[in-house]
Amino acid sequence: MKIAIASDHGGFALKQEVMEHLKARNVEYIDKGCYSAASCDYPVFAKEVTAAVTSGEAEFGILICGTGIGMSIAANKVKGIRAALCHDVFSAQATREHNDANILCMGARVVGPGLALMIVDTFLDTPFSNDERHIRRISLIED
Ligand code: RB5
Repeated sequence: MKIAIASDHGGFALKQEVMEHLKARNVEYIDKGCYSAASCDYPVFAKEVTAAVTSGEAEFGILICGTGIGMSIAANKVKGIRAALCHDVFSAQATREHNDANILCMGARVVGPGLALMIVDTFLDTPFSNDERHIRRISLIED
């Protein structure tokens, strides 16, 4: 499994923690920026991660900004992307099972690192249900 991860300045510190966690879990990742806590524009980094996922360079993406909202709005503009803004473990599990979400968005000003890492683990460890009704609903989004 390979992850593409990015943040803006608001998510920079949490991105560092998530990358440390992925390394400890032996999950391969590509850091698509930003590379400092200097102010920057979240849509630039959302585009980097969505491109990595749609091209197949990465199986999943993680996008972090202050709220997670800007990143999720930007990512969901891209065809084939199902970005889920999750600030609890239940949503992270449900969005993988029901929506086959391929990008996890989080807000670093909303959740602390402890909960964020549990959300990451749940998202990465939960398979899509493959239920017919969920496949149908996802295909209706794509139409
Ligand atoms: C940056 O201040 C902030 O607007 C950004 O991180 C994000 O929360 C946008 O949705």
